[in-house]
Amino acid sequence: MMQTAREKDYLVFALGKGRLANKTLKLLEQIGISCEEMKDPDTRKLIFVNEELKLKFFLSKGPDVPTYVEYGAADIGVVGKDTILEENRRVYEVLDLGFGKCRMCVCGFPEARKLLEHHEKIRVASKYPEIARDYFYHKKQQTVDIIKLNGSVELGPIVGLSDVIVDIVETGSTLRENGLEVLEEVCPLSARMIVNPVSMRMQNERISKLIRDLRQVLEQEGK
Ligand code: PRP
Repeated sequence: MMQTAREKDYLVFALGKGRLANKTLKLLEQIGISCEEMKDPDTRKLIFVNEELKLKFFLSKGPDVPTYVEYGAADIGVVGKDTILEENRRVYEVLDLGFGKCRMCVCGFPEARKLLEHHEKIRVASKYPEIARDYFYHKKQQTVDIIKLNGSVELGPIVGLSDVIVDIVETGSTLRENGLEVLEEVCPLSARMIVNPVSMRMQNERISKLIRDLRQVLEQEGK
């Protein structure tokens, strides 16, 4: 039979590659969960095991984390709220990890403000078309054209592709350096822990303890 990450007895974590994964590992260390193998920056391995604690970890592209968790290939995932909203998978969001804080915003040149006020049929570029659609169609009841981009979304208004963008703002420096500004706030974002609903039932004791321990550390840190 094929050897898979998904063996019973193991709790499997899917982590979004990059900064979030590093911060997650630091947080897990504070509750006594570590994975030495994963710390080697040159490793090309995809899956890491802590035999003692019966844990497995793998790194994936952020948007794939909710997919692995929905299908039960991972029991637990850590990913940004932006990705959770955009992917809209059947998973439980159980904990706000308090890092990776930023905001999803509608941004553009100051002149675009009146287009928003008058509910004009504007063009909106975004890496997050579902979030943009939900915001304009459901929250604002404004009909817009949504154009999906894959990055450097700030180019949209600059090169005349779109009137505004829906994008992540962290420090605001990308906007400032390009003469753009926040026009409306869609929602606050941060890293969240998600759980497969079946795992939540079948491995309830282990997962609940994990959540409790993490919550305690987060509360101590005032997050
Ligand atoms: C993100 C986001 C903004 C920028 C915001 O992009 O899409 O472009 O960071 O950060 P700031 O407010 O601190 O300037 P990212 O660097 O992830 O790359 P991307 O544009 O290719 O998505």
